[in-house]
Amino acid sequence: MSTTFNFIRKNVFVVGGTSGINFGIASGFARWGANVVVASRKEQKVANAVAELKALGASANGVTLDVRDYEQVEDGFESACKFLGGDIDILISGAAGNFPARVNDMSPNAIRSVLEIDLLGTFHVMRAGFNYLKKPGASVINISAPQAFLPMAHQAHVCAAKAGVDMVTRTLSMEWGQDGVRVNSIVPGPIAGTEGMDRLSPTPDLQAAVAKSVPLKRLGEFHDIAHAAGMLCAEESSYISGVVLPVDGGWSQTGATSVMDKMSRMLDTIKP
Ligand code: NAP
Ligand code: COA
Repeated sequence: MSTTFNFIRKNVFVVGGTSGINFGIASGFARWGANVVVASRKEQKVANAVAELKALGASANGVTLDVRDYEQVEDGFESACKFLGGDIDILISGAAGNFPARVNDMSPNAIRSVLEIDLLGTFHVMRAGFNYLKKPGASVINISAPQAFLPMAHQAHVCAAKAGVDMVTRTLSMEWGQDGVRVNSIVPGPIAGTEGMDRLSPTPDLQAAVAKSVPLKRLGEFHDIAHAAGMLCAEESSYISGVVLPVDGGWSQTGATSVMDKMSRMLDTIKP
């Protein structure tokens, strides 16, 4: 077990935690001694993620659910807490869907699907999850995206949804503070080896251009985001709430507009 942080016997639930950045966070907490439950739609992905977490030595389990369905989310919390044997110390909410498309090329259902996963899904996880959080002491992290404050063509649905997610985070930090629950957002920058990067920067040249545009001159890694989550959830951070934290090598400070423009011009040339 890595000793970077101590989360021994803490109960962690990662919604949307079966791949990519969120699985990286789940793996971090597994390495730091926590009991971890991950949830997402696809049974096989859930099973694979649980097997990998167990291989790290963690007590781990999985739940199959779609965040768009409130009842499935409620049932998911109930079975997660049954496995964990108590309330949740750390809740990560990061389920998301994304595809690049201009608004004029999106059907109403396409727009709805992203808003329902990212924004309504966040509401569902927060609304159902509160009853299962350890009070006082729980820490909640919503996973946002730079599109929450940097507009990008082909991303109006994600921009709107993630901007909403950040406002949910900030509002809940006010509503839940009196219960001793902290609520923060992490805004990952461009992270290597992810579904999100593959969809938005689908060529090696473009990924290299994105990396070059980051002040620290590299794409982020899974462990960069996992460590930020560990830092925010550590007891030493017990006065941090309502923060929307970019973890992006300084990318958001640049505005990132020129590279995002380059990304969207290239996406125009790739028709589905
Ligand atoms: P990913 O691997 O596709 O992760 C998305 C996760 O959400 C998967 O576990 C997926 O599993 C689950 N999911 C999707 N729809 C769901 C639904 N309706 N109900 C329940 N679970 C659902 O993508 P990623 O690129 O690592 O992104 C992870 C998070 O980071 C997202 O919130 C994204 O917006 C954010 N982010 C990513 C980047 C980046 O560089 N990639 C940058 C900034 C922010 P199933 O398919 O099994 O449901
Ligand atoms: N351009 C325009 N519309 C698109 C599209 C694209 N590239 N991809 C999907 N859509 C539309 C579909 O045509 C459909 O609309 P319709 O019913 O009017 O035809 C609508 O979006 C929903 O698609 P569907 O595939 O039925 O939804 P789903 O619930 O199975 O999947 C998605 C949701 C579309 C968000 C899918 O991409 C997904 O599951 N993503 C999860 C992984 C991911 O995106 N990871 C990156 C996170 S940053």
